[in-house]
Order: sequence, then structure tokens, then C-alpha cells
Amino acid sequence: MGNISIRNAVPDDSEAILAVVHDWWGRPIGSGMFSKFFLAHFSETCLIAKRNDQFGGFLIGFLSQTHMDEAYIRFVAVRPEERSAGVGRALYEEFFAVAAKHQRAIIRSVTSPRNKTSVVFHQRLEFVIEPQEHTIDNLPVQLNYHGREGTDRVLFVRTCR
Ligand SMILES: CC(C)(COP(=O)(O)OP(=O)(O)OC[C@H]1O[C@@H](n2cnc3c(N)ncnc32)[C@H](O)[C@@H]1OP(=O)(O)O)[C@@H](O)C(=O)NCCC(=O)NCCS
Repeated sequence: MGNISIRNAVPDDSEAILAVVHDWWGRPIGSGMFSKFFLAHFSETCLIAKRNDQFGGFLIGFLSQTHMDEAYIRFVAVRPEERSAGVGRALYEEFFAVAAKHQRAIIRSVTSPRNKTSVVFHQRLEFVIEPQEHTIDNLPVQLNYHGREGTDRVLFVRTCR
């Protein structure tokens, strides 16, 4: 699996993230999805992965201020050439450790029902899909998750033991 190291992100990492995010995501991301302020205000839960000494992935997350037992992963991306090598798992496991340190037993994340890789990835990381009234491609989805048309999402939850 090579040499993977994880560290906290800092605001100066935003340039490197913005330089690759559209490519790693596979399409342009909206400006609301990532902003430098995440790194300024959620540094402990925003993580940078290096694999074999190069920038290999990042995770943007936060501890919920409303639900004191929850932490939320906003998004994650791994360099395409480094996929299936454990980088995504390493980022998530570090996030789980930070969440546990803050007594956050519930981890939440969401993905588009079109993103089958993300669905499998979350299931491998022991997330379960929350039941919903609606389905797309046999996946339960919450419609208009972000309050806007076209933002139907699969909702994942993982309860730490
Ligand atoms: C989803 C993503 C982060 C996974 O990162 P990764 O580093 O390739 O994942 P890992 O190698 O750590 O794999 C973790 C587990 O998921 C599984 N997995 C990962 N990609 C998979 C795929 N394409 N098909 C099937 N299983 C897959 C692995 O088999 C592994 O299982 P295991 O650890 O139990 O053996 C990466 O594909 C990515 O950046 N995609 C684009 C951005 C995105 O869709 N982000 C998620 C939505 S926020």
C-alpha cells in the first residue's frame, strides 16, 4: 500500500487543493463545496494525505455544533493515480480517531446516487445507508438534500463502537 501519512490541513493548503480538486473530483465543483475558510476554522478535521511523499488526497470535515455526538465529512478526494491503495481509508480512519477524541460516536457523510464508487467506498468503511422515502437506482435518496433541485443524495451514517 506504500507509505501513507496524514496531517491536519492548514489554510496554505488551499492553493494545492484548488489546483487539483476539479480534476480529482472528475468535474468542476461548485464554489460552496470547498473554500479556504474550512481549513482556517476546521483544521483539526480537515486532513491531507501524502503517499510516497506526494500529495495524494484530502478530506474536508467538521464536528457538528448542533449535534454534539456527531461529526460530518463534507468531502474527500484521492489523486486518481493513487486510488485503491488505501489513501481514502487512511483519511477516514484518521477522521474517525479525531471524532472519537471529541466523543463524536456518529459520523455522517453523503454522496450522489450516481457516484457508485463512493457508495461502495462508504459501505466498506462500515457506513450504512439511511432509509428514505425515495430511491434512485435502488439507492435510498433524500431529495433536494442541499435545498436545491438536483441535489438528491444518499445519506450515510456510521456509529463508532
Ligand atoms: C471515493 C475515493 C475517495 C476512494 O478513495 P481510495 O483511496 O481509492 O479508497 P481506498 O483505496 O482507501 O479503498 C477503501 C475501500 O473502498 C473500496 N473501494 C475503493 N474504490 C473502489 C471501487 N472503485 N470499487 C470498489 N471498491 C472500491 C476498496 O476496495 C477498499 O476496501 P477495503 O479497504 O475494505 O479493502 C476515490 O475514489 C475518489 O477520490 N473519488 C473521487 C471523489 C469522490 O467521489 N469522493 C467521494 C464523495 S465525497
